[in-house]
Amino acid sequence: MMFDYFEKNESNVRSYCRVFPVKFERAQNAVIISSNGVRYIDFFAGAGAMNFGHNNPYIKSKILEYLEMDNIIHALDMYTVEKEKFLITFINNILSPKGLDYKIMFCGPTGTNAVEAALKLVRKNKKRSNVIAFSGAFHGMSLGSLAITSDSFSRAGGGVPLNNTIFAPYCNQFEDHQKSLDYLEWMLTDDHSGIDKPAAIFFESVQAEGGVNVADIEWLQKLRDLCTKHDILLVCDDIQVGVCRTGNFFSFERANIDPDIVVLSKSISGFGLPMSILLIKPELDIFSPAEHNGTFRGNQLAFVGAVAGLEYYKKSNLPQMVKEREKVISDFLINAILPIDSRLSVRGIGMIWGIDFSKIDSSLSNVAMQNCVKNHLIIERAGSDNCVLKILPPLTIEQETLVEGLRIIKEAVTVTLEKYYHR
Ligand SMILES: Cc1ncc(COP(=O)(O)O)c(C=O)c1O
Repeated sequence: MMFDYFEKNESNVRSYCRVFPVKFERAQNAVIISSNGVRYIDFFAGAGAMNFGHNNPYIKSKILEYLEMDNIIHALDMYTVEKEKFLITFINNILSPKGLDYKIMFCGPTGTNAVEAALKLVRKNKKRSNVIAFSGAFHGMSLGSLAITSDSFSRAGGGVPLNNTIFAPYCNQFEDHQKSLDYLEWMLTDDHSGIDKPAAIFFESVQAEGGVNVADIEWLQKLRDLCTKHDILLVCDDIQVGVCRTGNFFSFERANIDPDIVVLSKSISGFGLPMSILLIKPELDIFSPAEHNGTFRGNQLAFVGAVAGLEYYKKSNLPQMVKEREKVISDFLINAILPIDSRLSVRGIGMIWGIDFSKIDSSLSNVAMQNCVKNHLIIERAGSDNCVLKILPPLTIEQETLVEGLRIIKEAVTVTLEKYYHR
């Protein structure tokens, strides 16, 4: 009854609302309140768009201030005061201190728009049509991005052949991680491999939708070397695990590598507003003016949120905050989840973690998730057969709320498995 109006009028494609059958109204940091006043803890964080927490007071105050003064909101890609502030703040606080030299391209509002731009740009640069992506990859739902996304359900929705992509096994596919690199090396060197040389390799240093697969440092470094050796561009999709999710601003920093192009979206705008950008090595910045275009590439409120988010990142020492919470989560998983059943496995980094049910029964992740939701914890799944329960709270979550949410998970997993054993 409560959802009749949505069910009658909103497209059948709606999805998260089916997992969380609640009408939400207000939110503060890691807590969301439903229209009937029920408090939910958020371990989903807008799929990684709410790293700074809902209605982060510092960021919100800057946005309200901006609105109050009749500042410009929509400006296509025209020069504005706020865009300049974003460029200065991002370069001075993030790129320069890390020794990274990138041009910044503003793309359409969402992550997939930036991935599409990256695909066009690598093809234009290298004059090759193929790209390589990895098993477990998720890069978005528009046709170009879908072509480099691995899951069969999403791909089937494309309705046309998804071409010009070769999939290679990701770091975690073989116990010996070197094997996936050997496979890539073979594809690129054997003149009988049947593979036309690609323009680029697209990768996530931590696959989020793929099931919280954390590539190891050596693998990432060798991937960088392989691309350099074969004159192939390396593109890091940091849409979900960038902006400090793994503890560093960029997820690839832990491997001390420099991708040729980096894709950012989701939390870059600080406040959950649509924004996506490409970071491009200067020599690759070869689009002609307006060759890649779009009406919503200058969301000024998103720039305000982004500047405030970067200021907040610095003044609140977000990497330290993530480190402290990472320890709470990993200790909990090791001490409270693994003992429930030795066939469970856990993995993650920073503030993205997963509990993998596949060695027992992949469908149990769904039961565990529903038990979490019943106890007012918002959490999602990922990976092959959705076998992984994915822990993705706002980075700013209060320690008590974090522990409260983790206790709900423990209870949910315990109940799920007890019922399973006694079925
Ligand atoms: C790694 C990654 N790339 C791309 C996308 C697509 O972003 P959007 O949904 O904003 O188009 C997502 C979304 O979850 C993502 O996680």
